[in-house]
Amino acid sequence: MRFFSTATALAATAATLFYASGSAAINTIEISGRYFVDSVTGEPFFIKGVDYQPGGSSSFESGADPLSDADVCARDIYLLQNLGVNTVRIYSVDPTLNHDECMTLLASAGIYLILDVNTPIYGQYLDRWQPWTTYTEAYLDHIFQVAEAFSGYNNTLAFFAGNEVINDNTSAEASPNYVKAVVRDLKAYITNNIKRQIPVGYSAADVLEFRVPLAAYFECGPAGEAVDFYGVNSYQWCGDQTFKSAEYDVLVEDYTNYTIPLFLSEFGCNNVLPRTFQEVGAIFSNEFSVVFSGGLVYEYTQESSNYGLVNISSSDGSAQERHDYVALSTAYASVTTTGLATGSATARPTTCATSYAYINGNTTLPDTPAATLIADGLNSTYNRGKYVEITVKSTNYTIYAYNGDEVTDKSVTENYSIDISDASAIDQTDKSNSSASTGDSPSSSSGSDTSSGGATATGSASSATSSSAAIANLVRSSEKMGATAVFAVILGLVFA
Ligand SMILES: *[C@@H]1O[C@H](CO)[C@@H](O)[C@H](O)[C@H]1NC(C)=O
Ligand SMILES: *[C@@H]1O[C@H](CO)[C@@H](O)[C@H](O)[C@H]1NC(C)=O
Ligand SMILES: *[C@@H]1O[C@H](CO)[C@@H](O)[C@H](O)[C@H]1NC(C)=O
Ligand SMILES: *[C@@H]1O[C@H](CO)[C@@H](O)[C@H](O)[C@H]1NC(C)=O
Ligand SMILES: *[C@@H]1O[C@H](CO)[C@@H](O)[C@H](O)[C@H]1NC(C)=O
Ligand SMILES: *[C@@H]1O[C@H](CO)[C@@H](O)[C@H](O)[C@H]1NC(C)=O
Ligand SMILES: *[C@@H]1O[C@H](CO)[C@@H](O)[C@H](O)[C@H]1NC(C)=O
Ligand SMILES: *[C@@H]1O[C@H](CO)[C@@H](O)[C@H](O)[C@H]1NC(C)=O
Ligand SMILES: *[C@@H]1O[C@H](CO)[C@@H](O)[C@H](O)[C@H]1NC(C)=O
Repeated sequence: MRFFSTATALAATAATLFYASGSAAINTIEISGRYFVDSVTGEPFFIKGVDYQPGGSSSFESGADPLSDADVCARDIYLLQNLGVNTVRIYSVDPTLNHDECMTLLASAGIYLILDVNTPIYGQYLDRWQPWTTYTEAYLDHIFQVAEAFSGYNNTLAFFAGNEVINDNTSAEASPNYVKAVVRDLKAYITNNIKRQIPVGYSAADVLEFRVPLAAYFECGPAGEAVDFYGVNSYQWCGDQTFKSAEYDVLVEDYTNYTIPLFLSEFGCNNVLPRTFQEVGAIFSNEFSVVFSGGLVYEYTQESSNYGLVNISSSDGSAQERHDYVALSTAYASVTTTGLATGSATARPTTCATSYAYINGNTTLPDTPAATLIADGLNSTYNRGKYVEITVKSTNYTIYAYNGDEVTDKSVTENYSIDISDASAIDQTDKSNSSASTGDSPSSSSGSDTSSGGATATGSASSATSSSAAIANLVRSSEKMGATAVFAVILGLVFA
């Protein structure tokens, strides 16, 4: 049975209007061709963001997540807002927790969420080397719960069905059609059970051989099986570089014919410290914006991997801006996300190639183990989110500026008004009691795409970017890999 709190019903009927100081609504974002657009104004939406997972991208235990404690959120959203971001990416959440206060505060600050549906907990991710062992009904139940839990918030921008699952030769052989099956299942679940068709994508490790073939493999085929957008984790601009020396020109060229939205799901090489985020100017240039819709800097908190913008004290929860926070806020303040160049859209390739270089391009996907869940909805007690009245807009935690001064006014500025009586995003129908499914089941999801076929983005892999950038990328990927695997991949790179 689906979980509904009585407050949902009350909010829907009682016309409790709550307007914050801002005036604009937080409109949903949808996809139009190869860009994200504001669903009301039609303006293209460029992601100016930060990866936000205190503890690191692979750090997570159920019972708490980055959006479950209002006082922590008020601390971090204050800092994120002053950094100038419009989007955060979160890598893991617990769908049984309540995220309403944090999501409402994020929305009022004008910040969207890109959410990975997996966690590092066994049974809640796909094993990259033996995906058939973890592609189970219980696994899909988990990711569907995450989608349900966050579906009621306008500022849920998109879901990542996987992050860097394919990052070595073993996973490139074993996993592509399983990741695509997860994409298919999540999209079918959303179509059948969730009011808004929230986009589903994949976030790729930027391993050079895989760059072009993997992106093409995920883009092609029946609409029900292709990703809606694609993220690239790229650490190739390190320190003082140019568009050319960092090979951003190659990056743009490699994806120039891509037909769906694309962005840097992680950037911010730390080989040269302190970081100056010179690449921000390049990312928000017309040359880049035609192909890429912005990006997300890795990462908000300082962890052992040394990418932090902010120090969080483990003893008292106080936060202090680091040098990189100041540098990034300066860089983000110097660019605009409006008026950037966009290009015309071409049709998505509805047929896949028969094979792809370096990866197993099998386009026959495994059958879903969760056909009943996809058709009928979940029978789990996840916490279905909705906007609520904000009670904590100023954190109790101490915040220090970079110069050591304590911040006195820690209030989040409510630039957007969140009308909590607007339940338009919330599906009020309890499908667990409906007798028959009206939607497609994934086995029939190989239906035709309405767009006519275009050319598959093929194009050969570019020459290698600097091996230091590649290794930086691998070190980042290593958070999610065993030490032996990392070593093997580094050896592979160095001795290739
Ligand atoms: C949600 O977005 C829709 C447009 O997609 C908009 O009409 C509505 O007002 C928004 N709701 C809130 C609470 O901002
Ligand atoms: C913050 O401090 C106020 C005043 O001391 C207290 O009433 C409130 O419960 C605290 N809030 C949180 C979330 O700890
Ligand atoms: C995959 O194997 C080839 C051939 O052994 C090697 O050149 C390449 O570096 C490997 N790629 C990765 C990502 O390990
Ligand atoms: C952040 O924490 C590190 C390690 O504790 C410390 O060396 C550094 O000075 C701190 N930086 C700031 C700006 O607080
Ligand atoms: C393609 O994948 C499907 C589903 O996992 C599998 O049944 C089939 O044997 C694979 N085909 C090839 C040629 O490996
Ligand atoms: C749904 O869950 C309830 C409580 O756990 C259980 O009694 C019921 O049999 C489940 N229904 C289905 C269709 O699985
Ligand atoms: C939102 O609030 C911040 C912090 O006060 C402010 O600097 C910024 O200009 C506001 N943004 C918009 C879009 O109104
Ligand atoms: C489902 O239907 C049964 C029988 O009509 C009803 O007793 C139950 O309350 C319904 N459950 C929900 C969640 O609406
Ligand atoms: C992009 O498309 C153009 C025109 O069809 C083609 O000449 C070019 O090679 C393609 N580039 C890539 C990287 O596929």
